[in-house]
Amino acid sequence: MSDSSAPWWRQAVVYQIYPRSFADSNGDGIGDLRGILSRIDYLKSLGVDAVWLSPFYPSALADGGYDVDDYRDVDPKIGTLDDFDDLVAALHAAGIRLYIDIVPNHSSNRHVWFQQALAAAPGSPERDRYIFRQGAGPDHAAPPNDWIAAFGGSVWEPVGDGWFYFHLFAPEQPDWNWDNPEVREEFLTTLRFWSDRGVDGFRVDVAFGLAKDLSEPFLTQEQVKAMLPGANHPYFDRDGVDEIYRGWREVFNSYDPPRVAVAELWREYSSRKARYATMESLGQAFFFDIMFAGFDAGRVRKVVEDVLGWAAESGSSSTWVLSNHDIVRHASRLGLPDPEPHDAEAVVDDCRRWLLSRGAEPVEDVAGGLRRARALTMLLLALPGSTYLYQGEELGLREVADLPDSARQDPTFFLNTGYDVGRDGCRVPLPWTSDGPSFGFGTGPAHLPQPAWFADYSVQGQETDPASTLNLYRAALRLRRGLEGPEELEWLDAPTGVLRFARPGGWHCVTNFTGRPVEMPDGQVLVASGPLSDGSLPGETTVWLRTEDAR
Ligand code: GLC
Ligand code: CA
Repeated sequence: MSDSSAPWWRQAVVYQIYPRSFADSNGDGIGDLRGILSRIDYLKSLGVDAVWLSPFYPSALADGGYDVDDYRDVDPKIGTLDDFDDLVAALHAAGIRLYIDIVPNHSSNRHVWFQQALAAAPGSPERDRYIFRQGAGPDHAAPPNDWIAAFGGSVWEPVGDGWFYFHLFAPEQPDWNWDNPEVREEFLTTLRFWSDRGVDGFRVDVAFGLAKDLSEPFLTQEQVKAMLPGANHPYFDRDGVDEIYRGWREVFNSYDPPRVAVAELWREYSSRKARYATMESLGQAFFFDIMFAGFDAGRVRKVVEDVLGWAAESGSSSTWVLSNHDIVRHASRLGLPDPEPHDAEAVVDDCRRWLLSRGAEPVEDVAGGLRRARALTMLLLALPGSTYLYQGEELGLREVADLPDSARQDPTFFLNTGYDVGRDGCRVPLPWTSDGPSFGFGTGPAHLPQPAWFADYSVQGQETDPASTLNLYRAALRLRRGLEGPEELEWLDAPTGVLRFARPGGWHCVTNFTGRPVEMPDGQVLVASGPLSDGSLPGETTVWLRTEDAR
């Protein structure tokens, strides 16, 4: 059934591993590459096509590893390059491809080139690899402008000689100057380094930020905030990124099979997203819009149609994703009341305020959140295109909203005090067993403390329960392999609040978004996101059917 002439990635299920929180092989509380190696059978049993590793590079962890000291090495706390080679070999032997994260917008302040820049004089070639400007005011003590960084505070950090460097994120993450040819060449070398080691693909962090126009006079923060990302924005989504990625494409295409990439793009980029996903550019782009649609038939259908349209425009396949290491886990998100009116801003803001209350207000609907998460995930897995899963969602894991402040690590917590508690709650190490130190994550503690309720979500506990979320994911991924055909979808008539679509080969997916049962459509039930009652499809449930309609 599957379309064997299509490139492997177009409809792949990619599983995101946050290495420090997946499995710890030596009991030091930090997940590592050997830990991942020890869980290859688990990844195989889950049935994913590829794994994406969040950064594992040497890092002081000012931003969870997205502050990279050295792009061509492994953090000694996580392993070695030999471990990495072993991991690639083991994944490939298991038929699983590997994506790694590449962070081209900024390095860490410990990167050797940044250290050289600090030691060098203003105007030197060393400083030109980053973005330095002289301070404002008579003694150059004030930042060059009033721009605010993504994690709070000024985008400018003084270096003590009247000059400042630019950082869109934490002060420990100086932005590269992509106008500098040495920087461009350095990243091509890094892409080749990992491709030569067998890496199949790259997830490109902050893919929209590389090209900047910081010429003076500067716009004010207020003016920048009011602008849409795009050609005229000083640093987001400028046309200049296209040329950079054309150069990357040449490297990708020099391998057989060509290496692939997926651009991280947040929701504001909708109208220009397709550019990143063409085969002249990165080849795929994240369409995060579905994360903010909530659980509503009309909104979900609209996003699916939009995303399929953008993907078609680029010639690429669509990408579906509900959770990652930057956002409240979807089992929790879908357990919070719907904002009124519902839009992406409101969802983000509600999540932020819920976390600020440490998960106390509003009270999370735990059972409902999981029910909706399972139903929506099943819908996504039936769509054409690729799906990105985030570690732990296959366990139905919820956000850990009440981590003690003393345990928090995310810079957004420290830089935006009282406004944002940050993203640590979706990065808590996985529970593998129902008891034991760190629930089987390792033999020691977990670097972010796990709550007692993690015991109920463990892999061990779910293995033997046929109705568990883990077994639902396994069943869905197994079936999907057999059902997958061309990237086509046809909407079919359905009652209000129900979405039904057909895929080639008689595969139908029906989701009941309402709270009441509806009549079960004809067909053989392949799998359902929750218990079925005789002759009807219960509320907040998805079912996959096989029908006679074998187009
Ligand atoms: C991306 C990453 C996020 C990180 C940021 C800065 O958005 O996903 O985790 O904080 O880039 O590198
Ligand atoms: Ca470890």
